[in-house]
Amino acid sequence: MYKLTKCLFPAAGYGTRFLPATKSVPKEMLPVLDKPLIHYGVEEAIDAGLNEINIILGRGKSAIEDYFDKNYELETELADKPKKLKLLDPINKLLARGTFTFRRQGAMLGLGDAIFKAKSMIGNEAFGVVLADDICDSQYFPSVMAQMVETYNKYQCSIVAIMEVPISKSESYGIIDGDEVEAGVYRVSKMIEKPKPSEAPTNLAIIGRYILNPDIFPMLAEIKAGAGSEIQITDALQKLAEQGKVIALKFKGKRYDCGSVEGYVEAINGFYNK
Ligand code: G1P
Repeated sequence: MYKLTKCLFPAAGYGTRFLPATKSVPKEMLPVLDKPLIHYGVEEAIDAGLNEINIILGRGKSAIEDYFDKNYELETELADKPKKLKLLDPINKLLARGTFTFRRQGAMLGLGDAIFKAKSMIGNEAFGVVLADDICDSQYFPSVMAQMVETYNKYQCSIVAIMEVPISKSESYGIIDGDEVEAGVYRVSKMIEKPKPSEAPTNLAIIGRYILNPDIFPMLAEIKAGAGSEIQITDALQKLAEQGKVIALKFKGKRYDCGSVEGYVEAINGFYNK
């Protein structure tokens, strides 16, 4: 059984769908109410027991490093304004509960490449992966990552979180096929990255939550660029799925696709009206 205490946040992308805002502000730092997008994912990971946070950055993303660090100047300025100082509690509490490590991806060759470049940070351990622009609200359930940790503990193999999407949207997702081994849990036989609707075997789409065993790294080293000419984690997972080593979990909760303007607005409204 592998140790599972690390969580990886690939955060090197340009966030082109939010240009011009993301010209100088990392997509992961766009606010959903009073917290940046990435705060929600990090909180979900830490709540699930994955408190060693590893973030993969690109150029122009240093605001993320600054967010996950103490700001002594600000705290000194606010020292005699306790109400304002208290507004920093959510991030200061997170900082106290986790450790934060950063590295650069260098050339951005895809999600699979970003994960592969974290190999030395992960070592021979299992690890979570959170794509911060997917915010999961599981107010009435354990968090999505916590549900996945429970599934991992049972099956001991790589886990992807899935949800049903309209088949017309298949080109925005990795799509899985497999046998349902218990309610909402599938032993994956096939995974295709962004198939055309006519080529999608099901409407079960992967969302931005994974738990990966370290046997993913040799697969990532082997695969060639796939959809969008990028190294795809889905293609590396397909190799493990061929050996029966991937489980898909239909999670309970609501996922907001903050990678799109519509999903981002929906998330803001959803959290505001809670
Ligand atoms: C990535 C993955 C894809 C997954 C999606 C979920 O794609 O490659 O398999 O379905 O995240 O958000 P991206 O949205 O980065 O293009």
